[in-house]
Amino acid sequence: MAGKKPSFQLNTETFVIMSVMCIVLVWTVNRILSAHDPKADVEDTPRVEQAANGDQVKEVEQANVPLATGKEPIDKIFIQSGCTVCHTIPGIRAAKGREGPKLELGTNALKRLADPNYHGKAQTDWEYVQESILNPGAYVVDGYSDHVMPRWYGQKLSAGALDKIITYLLKIEEVP
Ligand code: HEC
Repeated sequence: MAGKKPSFQLNTETFVIMSVMCIVLVWTVNRILSAHDPKADVEDTPRVEQAANGDQVKEVEQANVPLATGKEPIDKIFIQSGCTVCHTIPGIRAAKGREGPKLELGTNALKRLADPNYHGKAQTDWEYVQESILNPGAYVVDGYSDHVMPRWYGQKLSAGALDKIITYLLKIEEVP
C-alpha cells in the first residue's frame, strides 16, 4: 500500500504538467497562426480605432465627434472629426483611411464638376468641396458607396472649420 500512493501522486503530477504543456502549445501555435493571418490586419470597417492618438475618434458617430470651432490646427480638425478614419489626406500623417477616395481636390474638384453624372448644385471647386462635406449624397465618387460618409457634418463643423478644411483640400493636387 505504501508504495502505491507516491506512484499515484506522480501520475497526477505528470498529468497536470502535460496538460499545462498542451495548453501552452495550443496557445503558441494559435498565436503564430494568427500572426500570419492576413485578415488580422485588414481594416475592413470605418469603425476601426486608429493609431495612438488621443484625439482620434473611436467610431465615427455623431455623439463621439466634437464641434470644430475652426481655431484648431487643421490636422486636429481632420482627426477629431473622423475624416482620417476613411480618407487618405496628403500631408496629414494620421489620415490613411481607404473607405473613401484619397482627398486630392486641387485636381479632382473641377473634374467632378465636369462629369456628366454630376447633378449637384456646386458651380465652383470651392462649392463642390463644401457640398461633398455637407451633403455627400449630392454626388457619389465613382467606385465608392453612398451613405458611408456621415450626413451630419453641418452640425459638427463651424463655418470657420469648414473654410479651413476646404482651403486645405483644394491645395492638394494629385501626384501622378
Ligand atoms: C465613414 C467614412 C467617411 C468619413 C468619416 C468621411 N468621409 Fe468623406 N467620403 C467617404 C466616402 C465613401 C466618399 C465617396 C462617396 C461620396 O462621394 O459620397 C467620400 C467623399 C468625400 C469627398 C469627395 C471627394 C472627391 O474626390 O470628390 C470629400 C471632399 C470628403 N469625403 C471629405 C470628407 C471630410 C472633410 C471628412 C471629415 C469632416 C470626411 N470626408 C469624412 C467616406 C467618409
